[in-house]
Amino acid sequence: MTAPTHALAGNLRFLRALMARPKNIGAIVPSSRTLARAIARQIDPAACVLELGPGTGVVTQALLEHGVAPSRLTIVEYDPHMAAHLAQHFAGVQVIQGDAFELHRTLGAVADMAFGAIISSIPLLNFPMAQRQAFMAGLGARLAPGAPLIQFSYGTLPPAPPPPGFGVVRTALIWANIPPARVWAYRKY
Ligand SMILES: C[S@@+](CC[C@H](N)C(=O)[O-])C[C@H]1O[C@@H](n2cnc3c(N)ncnc32)[C@H](O)[C@@H]1O
Repeated sequence: MTAPTHALAGNLRFLRALMARPKNIGAIVPSSRTLARAIARQIDPAACVLELGPGTGVVTQALLEHGVAPSRLTIVEYDPHMAAHLAQHFAGVQVIQGDAFELHRTLGAVADMAFGAIISSIPLLNFPMAQRQAFMAGLGARLAPGAPLIQFSYGTLPPAPPPPGFGVVRTALIWANIPPARVWAYRKY
């Protein structure tokens, strides 16, 4: 498949998922490569990485280009069509079709693993604050000491306050994204 055809197929999968579950997609087009690269830059390439909501795989691709080994990357996507495509496209990456809000069950054999980085593209602003806070606290508990939790968001403020013991900083503002997006890095003090 040529690159333009591949991109078009990805956009169509994204559009189909958007029509089926708008709340879970939370964007009108896939993330830009500029945003994906800004997210990947926050990660130590030697880390074991958990990516939640990879969608079309634009961030997954940026992580691999950043030097993360496929065998160190676990990605969790709810949409079955997108998950099937990701599994086909990213050889060696562990692709799990499941719910990032039910991570213990979703992660199965790697449920007790401490990750060196977690990246979330889940559209948190579409969920109530209490659910966002519980989600972020749960992710924080899965991180190795000092490891970052990266979440992008379209709002001007972090989409959830940092879990207890964590701080949050904005690491990028990407105007070349539709809509413009901010990258937030949460870390334990
Ligand atoms: C903003 S979109 C995609 C972002 C991705 N960077 C892209 O451009 O394709 C959010 C993604 O999170 C996935 N998602 C939403 N809720 C989820 C959940 N509870 N568990 C796993 N994936 C979820 C959606 O299916 C979608 O692929």
